[in-house]
Amino acid sequence: MSKQNNILKESVRSKLFTFDEFHQWNTVRYKDISGASASDQDRQKVNESGGHAGYGEILPFAVNRIFKMIDVQPKDVFLDLGSGTGKSVFQAALQFGLHAYGYELSEFRHSAAMAVLKLEQALNTISPALLSKVHLYQQDMIATDHNYPTDVTVILFDGLLHSEQFKENVMQKIIKVVLNNGNKMVRLWSIGSGELSIPEDLLIHQLQVEKCMCSWTIKCDLISQQNTHIYWLSAKYYKKSSKEKHDNKKREEEVKIIEFTSKVKDDMKDEREKYYKVYRKEGINF
Ligand SMILES: C[S@@+](CC[C@H](N)C(=O)[O-])C[C@H]1O[C@@H](n2cnc3c(N)ncnc32)[C@H](O)[C@@H]1O
Repeated sequence: MSKQNNILKESVRSKLFTFDEFHQWNTVRYKDISGASASDQDRQKVNESGGHAGYGEILPFAVNRIFKMIDVQPKDVFLDLGSGTGKSVFQAALQFGLHAYGYELSEFRHSAAMAVLKLEQALNTISPALLSKVHLYQQDMIATDHNYPTDVTVILFDGLLHSEQFKENVMQKIIKVVLNNGNKMVRLWSIGSGELSIPEDLLIHQLQVEKCMCSWTIKCDLISQQNTHIYWLSAKYYKKSSKEKHDNKKREEEVKIIEFTSKVKDDMKDEREKYYKVYRKEGINF
C-alpha cells in the first residue's frame, strides 16, 4: 500500500495533521475535484452577486506559511470568503485545529467541498470532533441579511478578480466583525486584490507578502510577486469621538512585536523550493 493511502487508512485520528500529512490528504481527496469545472449557469449566478466566478486557489504551502507568519493559535477562528472547494477550510481545521468557516456561492464548488466532508465522515478515519470544526455554507458573502460569525479572528479574502464595489461591500462586513471582536486582533489576508481600504482607526499594521504560492503562479511557471497583503485589525484603538485619546506608545510596541514575529516565522525558503518542485512535478488540480 502506498504511503499516501497508509495515512488515510490509520485508525480514527484526533491528532492534528502535520503539514506533510495535510498535503498528502489534500492530494488524495481532491484528486478528481476541480473548482474550475463549474458550469456556465453556476458561474452566471456567482457573477450576478457582484462577485467574480473566476477560479484559482491558494496552495496549502501558502496557507501553512501565512498562518505561521500571523501566529495562528488553536483558539483562532477562520473564515474563507469565497471558499471554492474548501481546501483552505479543511487545512485550517485539520492542520491548525481551528473552527473554520467557508462561504461559497457556487453550487458546484460548495457541493464538491461538502462531498469531501461527507466522504470523510463516512470513512470515519478522522475523529468527529476534529471534523466538526469544518463549517461549509453555500452563501453569498455580501448578503446583507447575514452576518459573518462574530468571533472570527483570521480571514482569507482571495479576491483577485472582484470589482472595487464588491470589495468595499465585503470590507463593510469585515469591519463589523472587527468592531464586535473588542480588543482581539483580526488578521485579514487578502490576495491579488490590490490594497483594501481600511479605516485608519482599525488598522494596526499591514504587510505586503512576497511570493505567495497560488495555483495561477505555479501554472504560469513562476512564483510571482503579487498583491498579497496581511492586515492586522483591531477595535482596540478605535476612537468613538475625536476627543478620545489612545496610548500610541502601546500601539507602536504592538506593531514591533507583530513585525518581529512575522519575520521570524517566515523562515521557509528551503521548504518553499521543495514544495515548488513538488507542485510542479505532481501537477496541481484546482
Ligand atoms: C479565487 S476563488 C478562491 C478559492 C479559495 N478561497 C482559495 O483561495 O483557494 C474565489 C471564490 O469566490 C467565489 N465567490 C465569488 N463571488 C461570491 C459571493 N458573492 N459569495 C460567495 N462566494 C463568491 C467564487 O465562486 C470562487 O470560488
